Amino acid sequence: MIAPGLLVPRVRGEEVRRDLADSGLLRSDLEIRHEGEFLVLPLVESSDGVPPSWGEVVEREFRESKRKGPARYRDLLPWSDEEKEALPRSFDIVGDIVLIRLPAPLEARKEAVGDALLRFVPGARLVGLDRGVHGPERRREVERIAGSGPWRTRHKENGVELEVDIERAYFSPRLAREHARVAEDVRAGDRVYDLCCGVGPFSVTIAHLGRAAGVTAVDANPEAIELLRETLARCPYGGRVAPIAARVEEFLPDAPTVERVVLNLPHEGIKYLPSVARTVAPRGRLYYYEVVSRTELAGRGVALVNSLAPVGGFAVVAERVVHPYSPASDLVAFVVERSR
Ligand SMILES: C[S@@+](CC[C@H](N)C(=O)[O-])C[C@H]1O[C@@H](n2cnc3c(N)ncnc32)[C@H](O)[C@@H]1O
Repeated sequence: MIAPGLLVPRVRGEEVRRDLADSGLLRSDLEIRHEGEFLVLPLVESSDGVPPSWGEVVEREFRESKRKGPARYRDLLPWSDEEKEALPRSFDIVGDIVLIRLPAPLEARKEAVGDALLRFVPGARLVGLDRGVHGPERRREVERIAGSGPWRTRHKENGVELEVDIERAYFSPRLAREHARVAEDVRAGDRVYDLCCGVGPFSVTIAHLGRAAGVTAVDANPEAIELLRETLARCPYGGRVAPIAARVEEFLPDAPTVERVVLNLPHEGIKYLPSVARTVAPRGRLYYYEVVSRTELAGRGVALVNSLAPVGGFAVVAERVVHPYSPASDLVAFVVERSR
C-alpha cells in the first residue's frame, strides 16, 4: 500500500526508528523499506511532529508487516473517526511508562485513552497524562490514567540505561539524538561540563563512549543528582562522571576552563551564557539549547555570538532544530566554538 515514510541514511536508521517509535509516529503494520544506503520508515498517516532534521518525508509502496494488531493506538478505541482524529498522534515512552498530552475536551475520556495506550505499547506498565514541566527544576506534572506502579523507571537510549523518575526530575526521550550527537563530538582527553544535567543523559552517554578525560555534571535539583549517582553506580565507566548538586551560578565562579560545555536550560540559560562561555577553553565548544521563535531563528546565531564578544572570539559552527516546541517555536541546538 502507498503511505508516507521517512527517508533516512541507513547509518542513522536505528536511532531515527527509535525516535519515531518513542514519539508514536512509526507505523507498525508496514515493513521498513531498504533502498541502497537509505531506509524508508513508515509513518502514521501524518508527518506532523517529525522534525525536518530527522529525514525527508516521502511517499512509498510498503509491504504489510506480519505483526498482528492495529497500526495506531486510536484504533483500539470504539470511537467515531471524527473523535479519533481529535486525539494526538504522538506520545512519549520513558522506560515502561507512556506519557501523553490531551486537549482539554478529551480529558474526560482520559482513562479510555490510557487503557488503549497500555494495550498498544509493548511492555508498557503505566500511562500518565502529561501536564508539562514546571518550576525552576522543570519537574513534570503527571496524572496516572492507566496501569500501576511508581513513576520511577529505567530508560534505555544510545546504549545506556538511565534511572528516571518522571515526577521528581526532568527527563525527555526526545533529546536522545542530541545526547548522542554531543557525545560523538567529544575528542580524546576532553574535559566536559554538563550544566543543568538533570538525570545526566549527556554525561552518561559521554562517559559510555569513553573518550572524555572526565565529566562534571551539575544540577540544582538534588533528586536529579541522586538518580544520576544511582545510574553511575551500576556502570563500569561511572567513575568518569563527578555529579554535583549545585546551582550553576555557585559552580561557575571557580570553574577552570574545559574543552566541552553543555548548557541545556532552554528558557533561562541565556542569563548564564556569558559566565558559562568563560569556562570554554580555546578551540573548545559550547552546546547551547534555546527555544527560538521561528521568525527569529535566522538571526539568532549571530545575536548569540555578538552577546559573547566581550568574553572572547566565538562562532556558531552548527545549528539544528531538535524538535518543535510550540506551533510557532522550536527547541534549537547551537554549537558555539571559541577561537581564542
Ligand atoms: C531542561 S532540564 C535539562 C536536563 C538534561 N540536561 C537533559 O538533557 O535531560 C534543565 C535542568 O536544569 C536544572 N536547573 C535549573 N536551573 C538551574 C540552575 N540555576 N543551576 C543548575 N541547574 C539548574 C533543572 O533542575 C533541570 O534538571
